[in-house]
Amino acid sequence: MEVQQQHPKLFNNVRYVGVPGADLYQGDCLAAIPQLAGGFDAVVTDPPYSSGGQSKGSRAASTGAKYLNNCSSDLPDFAGDSKDQRSYLHWSALWMALCYDKLNPGGLMIVFSDWRQLPVTSDALQAAGFTWRGTGVWDKAGSARPYRGGFRAQTEFFLWGSKGPLAGVTYSPGLFRVQQKPSEKLHQVGKPLALMDSLVAACGPSILDPFMGSATTGMAALQAGKKFTGIELSARYFDVSVERLRNR
Ligand SMILES: C[S@@+](CC[C@H](N)C(=O)[O-])C[C@H]1O[C@@H](n2cnc3c(N)ncnc32)[C@H](O)[C@@H]1O
Repeated sequence: MEVQQQHPKLFNNVRYVGVPGADLYQGDCLAAIPQLAGGFDAVVTDPPYSSGGQSKGSRAASTGAKYLNNCSSDLPDFAGDSKDQRSYLHWSALWMALCYDKLNPGGLMIVFSDWRQLPVTSDALQAAGFTWRGTGVWDKAGSARPYRGGFRAQTEFFLWGSKGPLAGVTYSPGLFRVQQKPSEKLHQVGKPLALMDSLVAACGPSILDPFMGSATTGMAALQAGKKFTGIELSARYFDVSVERLRNR
């Protein structure tokens, strides 16, 4: 990738690339969000869950080993996935509070979680100042791990809240049944585009994703004619995002 343009308003260690309809930043979202101009209508994001291990040693394993059934995948590991519960809660409240500051009144926060991190994610959402309004379900249909002696791990969740009274006018379902097609994945734990299309449809015209990954939220936003701002720490996934949004 040839573009290494530095955004003049940002710290030196945050890289900026603009593509039509989108502003993309490579760096830690805790450093980048305070530098953004703000005025977003929604945050739609899928942070690392730090969920794939219950001991210090297993949390520190590679994300591929933690989350991929087929470890032969070429998709690279991603950053920031080894926090314990207390630090995950504290960190989540930090980045959510930074997002709160940049949202328009009535703006939406939509944040993904799994079953294990659901309680602390709801605590963080409220600690950051949001009114917690509900929890939606992504039903992965057949594309989920069976569980011998138990129940298929078939769902993930999104918690949603707002900055004060809601400003939107749409009516959206609270459950989305979308199968993940491995061939479409550009990230080890990427979300299906059809799922993000449905969530983005409920949002206003300007969307922030501080954990962009492979820019699935960004693709959904641009397809819907909305403006997108994305932040990603991993240089490799940042480059995947730039290419994806440029070539869409
Ligand atoms: C669960 S993935 C997002 C996947 C995305 N929804 C997609 O469909 O491709 C979370 C991403 O957040 C990135 N990340 C972790 N810590 C970060 C931080 N402090 N600031 C910005 N990005 C971070 C990881 O590298 C990872 O790519």
